Amino acid sequence: MFESVLFLHSWFRWVVLISIISLGFKFIKSWIKNEKWSSADNSYLNGFSQIYYTQLAIGLTLYFGLSPIPKAIISNPDLIKDPYFFFFGIRHALSMILGVGVFHMGKWIAIKKPIESRYRILSITMIVTLLIVISAIPWPKLVYGRDLFRWF
Ligand code: HEM
Repeated sequence: MFESVLFLHSWFRWVVLISIISLGFKFIKSWIKNEKWSSADNSYLNGFSQIYYTQLAIGLTLYFGLSPIPKAIISNPDLIKDPYFFFFGIRHALSMILGVGVFHMGKWIAIKKPIESRYRILSITMIVTLLIVISAIPWPKLVYGRDLFRWF
């Protein structure tokens, strides 16, 4: 069960990353071309929220149920001094939650501001969200790195 959920979480990162990058490009293009806000844009925003929340839900399932890492930290809190345990026990989870917070704050600000500034605010929001997510992924070669493409 743990391996299957970790496999899903690992591959779903690509869905998250591709959707942030494509939505970011879309908003930047619409900002540069001074396009009008359309109802499709609302659907893109909602679609992205759902993708991000799906990954958060899988991550929370690992964290509070299946992963041996948080359990090891609870039974031996000194492990938190180890970069590997600190990354998966604290930094990874908090950064990804911060990412969704930044996305929602940007979306909220964009909706409150005049419609002409929406694409600009959302472009910046997607760039900041992307940077947060990228900085919290266990890329290969880092001390806590994992494979880019996980196989069982
Ligand atoms: C956009 C959000 C997220 C992305 C892109 C993401 C991505 C990843 C990736 C790529 C891995 C390594 C998978 C592998 O070993 O192949 C990982 C591991 C992990 N993630 Fe996430 N994650 C996200 C959110 C979360 C959240 C919110 C939590 C918990 C609250 C979480 C908990 C974990 C845990 C515990 C592991 C390690 C499990 C283990 O090896 O025991 N993730 N995540």
